[in-house]
Amino acid sequence: MIELKNIKKSFACGTGKVTVLDNISLEIHSGEMVAIMGASGSGKTTLLNILGCLDYADEGDYLYEDQNISDMRVGARERFRKDTIGFVFQQFALIEDETVLENIELPLKARFVPKKKRRQITMSVAMKLGIENHLKKKPSQISGGQQQRCAIARALVTDNPLILADEPTGALDKKTGEMIMNVLKNLSSEGKTVVVVTHDESVAGVADRIIRIEDGRLLPA
Ligand SMILES: Nc1ncnc2c1ncn2[C@@H]1O[C@H](COP(=O)(O)OP(=O)(O)O)[C@@H](O)[C@H]1O
Ligand SMILES: [Mg+2]
Repeated sequence: MIELKNIKKSFACGTGKVTVLDNISLEIHSGEMVAIMGASGSGKTTLLNILGCLDYADEGDYLYEDQNISDMRVGARERFRKDTIGFVFQQFALIEDETVLENIELPLKARFVPKKKRRQITMSVAMKLGIENHLKKKPSQISGGQQQRCAIARALVTDNPLILADEPTGALDKKTGEMIMNVLKNLSSEGKTVVVVTHDESVAGVADRIIRIEDGRLLPA
């Protein structure tokens, strides 16, 4: 289970500072699929980045199961991030010069997994996501939906339990976006915890629960 307690975050702005997250407290259960919704600038990405250890809260506690992430030193936090979290982004964040296969297996390479084992894992994840026939292509040679599947596959090869997705359907048409949300939904059915940021009500409807944020504050459920 994930628990955020009284998270505060502000950014420097000119001579003053602007509060972006104002006392955020929430719980997310293992295997749950949660959508974080709010207008542009409401603090969604900042919140997701704190969950993903890409950014720090100024105040408050981040608990993951029995670990207090806020108290961790940089190295331990980095290890936690690598072992726990998979990221999916709006613009896919694939390496254009590398094939779909090379993109998917990147996190395994970074962990020095031997080639044969890498290929085996990559193939099984690609099949699960229905992109096994595109492994030799470059990202520019497949559709947006297929690129996002490739990015999700990359987030899955290390079998990390928490998937964080920032507007994963934002660059896709409606139908393709729904397919991607169903892919994420299936992952949560299989036990992954999935947190999806979106400002699209129909996209959020796929989640088990919607958390609404407005000007850095959570709205009552
Ligand atoms: N690194 C940063 N430095 C300064 N201001 C930032 C930074 N990141 C985000 N902000 C500001 O914080 C607010 C919330 O941003 P963000 O979390 O990206 O919102 P959302 O994802 O909901 O659109 C915005 O006003 C944005 O300009
Ligand atoms: Mg954002």
